[in-house]
Amino acid sequence: MRKIVINGGKALRGEVAVSGAKNSVVALIPAIILSDDIVILDGVPAISDVDSLIDIMEIMGAKVSYQDETLEIDPRGIQNIPMPYGKINSLRASYYFYGSLLGRFGEATVGLPGGCDLGPRPIDLHLKAFEAMGATVSYEGESMRLATSDGEKLHGTHIYFDTVTVGATINTMLAAVKAKGRTVIENAAREPEIIDVATLLNNMGAHIRGAGTDIITIEGVEQLKGTRHQVIPDRIEAGTYIALAAAAGEGIKITNVLYEHLESFIAKLEEMGVRMTIEEDAIFVEKQENLKAVSIKTAPYPGFATDLQQPLTPLLLIANGRGTISDTIYEKRVNHVPELVRMGADMSVLGGRVIYQGSTSLTGAQVKATDLRAGAALVIAGLMAEGRTEITNIEFILRGYSNIITKLRALGADISLVED
Ligand code: EPU
Repeated sequence: MRKIVINGGKALRGEVAVSGAKNSVVALIPAIILSDDIVILDGVPAISDVDSLIDIMEIMGAKVSYQDETLEIDPRGIQNIPMPYGKINSLRASYYFYGSLLGRFGEATVGLPGGCDLGPRPIDLHLKAFEAMGATVSYEGESMRLATSDGEKLHGTHIYFDTVTVGATINTMLAAVKAKGRTVIENAAREPEIIDVATLLNNMGAHIRGAGTDIITIEGVEQLKGTRHQVIPDRIEAGTYIALAAAAGEGIKITNVLYEHLESFIAKLEEMGVRMTIEEDAIFVEKQENLKAVSIKTAPYPGFATDLQQPLTPLLLIANGRGTISDTIYEKRVNHVPELVRMGADMSVLGGRVIYQGSTSLTGAQVKATDLRAGAALVIAGLMAEGRTEITNIEFILRGYSNIITKLRALGADISLVED
């Protein structure tokens, strides 16, 4: 068993560079299945979700090389073999194989997606879109089979999503780029990762308009060519390091940040009184004192990201006053609360809301990462706390934070990954 061990309370200062966006790259890699030639991605983060996707692509017959954050994939030899449970279940984003395999072959048999336990995570809207485009859905054991009749092409259609969903918006784009005719997605999600995927697909020759707005139009094309693409910076990793810098830093510069992707998060920090200097592609966070407790309510982009409410929580715990956190995307994304309570936090979950009391001193403890962002919250809390913190279940953290131990050590943290 591996764990992260932190001796907290050390002065953290210096510079940390943000890697490419996890939630972009986990869609960009399956998107390459649709290409008729080699695609190169630059700025690919060193995270285990990427390793899993590379394994899956290789099992299907793609030629892959991955070195120094550059990933080159030749998808021409890909066979449409059934992709069983196992590896597929190791990550949530494996649902993007549905859209890309359907788009390329007119059929897909893929295990059900896994991922962090944040409460119910249905994929009904993904399936609704595929069905509207002419696919039928059936279940084969722990796999799902999607197919058009006689492996025909999908056809364009008009889709309205009742709920704003990142995954179903991207999956519909993937299925639609090579479909017959025009697909229109209404009430589409507007996250920057959606623009990134649309940019890659358009550079491959797709005709996608409106990504980043709530109406996306896709005109199907016959062929897609190879290209080279730079993955956007990870706004959630950036937010995590900004929260850490405000909670435990004595002057930390976070580089490779796109401020426009973090406006609602930065606005909340400003409301708390966090002092920051915003540069063109970097943010400098000063040592803080006298922060004010605030309440957080998550919302689809450009609202406050659900993925940042847990990493921000340790900072809230040292602010003055009381506040609440309501996650409107994943109501049950609260598994970090009992772990932080073990470290001395004064907080509870009531009626789907987290209620916290600030001005807390955290102390080191043995805690468990229950999901990726909960894990990030525990790492920050461990760095702030007096004494030793041991975090288990760290596979969740390594799924989404590139080189986290190396990056934190460079800031002066006493943190190590220990094999038990
Ligand atoms: N939803 C449905 N039906 C669907 C799809 C979604 O009801 O068919 C609901 C969900 O239950 C949720 C809401 O719609 O309440 C939004 O879900 P969305 O589809 O946007 O989430 P997702 O695509 O499964 C991605 C990220 C998550 C991030 C959410 C919200 C990836 C691989 N995952 O998930 O990232 O929290 O969008 O922004 O891109 C993380 O990085 O830690 C993470 C969990």
